[in-house]
Amino acid sequence: MAKRHWTPIDRYLTDLLVAPDPALDEALAASAEAGLPPINVSPNQGKLLHLLAQAVNARRILEIGTLGGYSAIWLARALPPGGQLVTLEADPRHAEIARANLRRAGLTEFAEVRVGRALETLPELAAEGGDPFDFAFIDADKEHTTDYFDWAVRLSRPGGLIVVDNVVRGGAVVDAARDDADVRGVRRFLEGLAAEPRVTATAIQTVGSKGHDGFAIARVLGP
Ligand code: SAH
Ligand code: DHB
Ligand code: MG
Repeated sequence: MAKRHWTPIDRYLTDLLVAPDPALDEALAASAEAGLPPINVSPNQGKLLHLLAQAVNARRILEIGTLGGYSAIWLARALPPGGQLVTLEADPRHAEIARANLRRAGLTEFAEVRVGRALETLPELAAEGGDPFDFAFIDADKEHTTDYFDWAVRLSRPGGLIVVDNVVRGGAVVDAARDDADVRGVRRFLEGLAAEPRVTATAIQTVGSKGHDGFAIARVLGP
């Protein structure tokens, strides 16, 4: 059982349950054309994010790690009229491609791509004092996941949902021989999550066209 087995199953489920969307296909094609790494969420994962955002009636969504805007399109499509996605991206080239992809998807007025390292743009966002976020998706460098999660909690409303990508990394998270900054970052995040009184949380392994990985999902509690 491995990726070669999981990928046709993802295709089967996606063909049945995820309606074709030319804007999403074009976003992936333009991202590949520009040489971006294919580390976007899969279509059925994108739709899961979309459904979760809708389930909490998200009007304001925060994303950390835009890449070419594939997950951003899924998230922005979950918003009601007047809703807003703020998505943070360190690499100006990625941000430019994401803006073009969001524009092609007709989502310019729903999505703002902010360029800069998230540890710099998150305090700026907080200082602006906008309305709290209803939903957050954390998917940037794994080293700083703990800090991104802390910001997401601070910027969320009670009842808000926070999803964190790549918390399993093919099992590296429990492999004692793996000790790189990414894996250490994920472990530190999960251990902190276990001790975090401001949320209730779980984590789930996933398999599919993106291999073996996982999501952590946290609900922000009241004050
Ligand atoms: N969410 C995207 C994939 C994101 S890939 C999708 O599913 O479609 C991770 C992205 O995080 C990359 O584009 C990378 O440039 C960005 N990133 C890495 N370090 C960052 C940082 N410190 N601040 C903001 N973004 C960062
Ligand atoms: C990587 C990053 C991701 O966000 C992801 O979903 C898969 C892989 C990576 O950095 O390799
Ligand atoms: Mg990811």
